[in-house]
Parts: sequence; C-alpha cells; structure tokens
Amino acid sequence: MSASELVARAESAAHAATAALVAAADLDELRRIERQVDDELAAVKKGIKDLEGADRSAVGKALGVAQTQVRTVADDRRSELERVAATARLAGERLDLTAQGHGSRRGHLHPVTQVWRELEDIFCGLGYEVHGGPEVEDDWHNFEALNFPPGHPARAMQDTLYVDLGAPEQVLLRTHTSPMQIRLMETQAPPIYAIIPGRTFRRDTPDARHSPVFHQIECLVIDRGITMGDLMGTIDVFFRALFGDVEARFLPSFFPFTEPSAELSVSCPFCAKSGCRTCSQTGWIELGGCGMVDPNVLQACNLDPEEWSGFAFGFGIDRIPLLRNEIDSLQTLLWDNDVRFLRQF
Ligand code: DAH
Repeated sequence: MSASELVARAESAAHAATAALVAAADLDELRRIERQVDDELAAVKKGIKDLEGADRSAVGKALGVAQTQVRTVADDRRSELERVAATARLAGERLDLTAQGHGSRRGHLHPVTQVWRELEDIFCGLGYEVHGGPEVEDDWHNFEALNFPPGHPARAMQDTLYVDLGAPEQVLLRTHTSPMQIRLMETQAPPIYAIIPGRTFRRDTPDARHSPVFHQIECLVIDRGITMGDLMGTIDVFFRALFGDVEARFLPSFFPFTEPSAELSVSCPFCAKSGCRTCSQTGWIELGGCGMVDPNVLQACNLDPEEWSGFAFGFGIDRIPLLRNEIDSLQTLLWDNDVRFLRQF
C-alpha cells in the first residue's frame, strides 16, 4: 500500500470511529468501537515498515493524529456514559426513608357500635328520644317496679350480679335495659317515645353464645290510646329499616312487666324463610320480647292505667352484627379485640 493510501485509510478509520463513538449507546458498544478502530490503525502501522524515509514520517504523523482524535472522542463519550450509568444505579438503589413509608390506615367503629348507631338513627327518624341510664341499678328499678315481686320465680331467669353496697341483694348490675322504663316514667310526663340502648350484665359463663356483659336496646312508648296494633306496626317498620324485606312474628310469651307479652322474631333475612344455617332451618330468628305495659307497672310509676297505656320491647343488640356477618362466636365479636378480625367490618 502506498503512503497516501495508508494516510487515507488512517483518516477514514478515525472519521468513521469518531461518528460511531459519539453515537455509542453504552460502555460496551464504546469498547467494541475502540477495539475495531485500534485494529484498523494497527494495520496502517504495519504498512509503515514497507515505506521509505519521508513517506514513513508522513504516515506516522497521520497515524498519530488519527489515534489522538479517536482517543479524545472516546474519552469524552466514556465519561458521559459513565455519568448516565451512575445516575441510573443511584435511582435504582434509592431507599425510601420517609416515616409513613407504608401509608397510614384509619380505624373504624366496632361492629356493635355501628349497629347501635344504626338503631338510634332509625328511631330518631321515627321521632323517638334516645336515653342512656345507670348500669348499676337498685332492686326497685331492675325488678320490683317491673312487677317482679321478691321471690318471684321470674327473677331466677336473670342470673343477677350483685354489688357489695348497702343491704344484701339491693344494688346490682342491671340485668336488662327495662329498668329505664321505670326511670323514664318516674321523671317524664307522658307522652313518652324513647329508646334506651345500653350495656347489661348477667352471671353467665362466657362461651360462643354467652357473655357476662352484653348489649340490649329497650323501647318504651306511653301515650293515650296505645294498642297492640301500634306495637306491631312500629316493630314492622323498624325491622324493615334494619333488615330490608322481612316479616315480624309475635308468639305468646310471659314477662312480668307486660300483659299480654310476646316473643319477638324476624323472618330470616338470609333465606327468606326457606331455612338455613343462620336460622337453624326454622326460617325465623328470635330477637327478644315485647308487650303492652302492665297496669301494675304504670301504677308503680304513678300513672293512671285508665288514662295512659303503652308498649315496650327489648332485645339483644349483639345478635345483629353476629347474624349479619355470619360470626360464630360472641367472644370473638366482643372480647378478643383482634384488629385483623375487626378490620373486616
Ligand atoms: N327485658 C327483657 C329481657 O331482658 C326483654 C323484654 C321483654 C323487654 C319484653 C321488654 C319487653 O321491653 O316488653 O329478657
């Protein structure tokens, strides 16, 4: 190869390599181009030994220029690609050290409180007042004024927890919300339209269906001319607001403070009375008791049974979230306090 051919080869190799290096996408490609141009320039260098004097130095000079040009461009592009690679690596290895890295979760009301509030909303919508009341009661309000005389067998139906205060068996934890019927009639002139949701207590051993502390809701209406029809109509409206398209059933029963008394059931909202596990295949779910306020109770509260009449009902609140959510155990609902369980509702 002549000197001018070798010079042209060196120049074109440098030219092609320069364009390729500037466009190299990453460090691997850059190294590959460098190797290629090195081989090309090494071939030019090899040709020098066949040349004479002045030609040798001319080609040698051209080779030096080509090598310098290639190295300069390659070095610039290399540092640029190294900077890009370092930035990408840092972004990939970035650690999120902010405090709420896992997001924050809000709590919600307990399933029993949700139903409790729903019951209050329904009755407020019907124009009723919501009352609380003492959890520690006396024998008069919990039993005697409700027509449970001392020694009456119906007292034994409610295993009472007594408080060691005053005379024996006089101060107790209320066994039901019914004593608030008496407290309202003693302190308010009728008409009375009230509900009383609250905590109640009985000497029960805790198991899937029993708890020594549980929740009831009481309803009391006292007005002129109240009849059993008013009771049934009210319960019908209330059940439909709570459960949807259901029926109420009244079976004859006994409570000392109502006459007549009835056991109160709702048609199973889960199987439309065809029978399922929740209603034990009966189509009905028993919720509580109800009846017309006994004249003896009105008299104990100084109300004239000739002028005033009324109805009352009461039942357990805890049953409702149990039924709705198909929860098997009252203990799990009320006491375990396992947020992994409660979070679902
Ligand atoms: N207090 C009763 C109980 O705990 C339930 C009850 C029955 C309440 C009849 C009433 C009623 O208001 O009229 O077993």
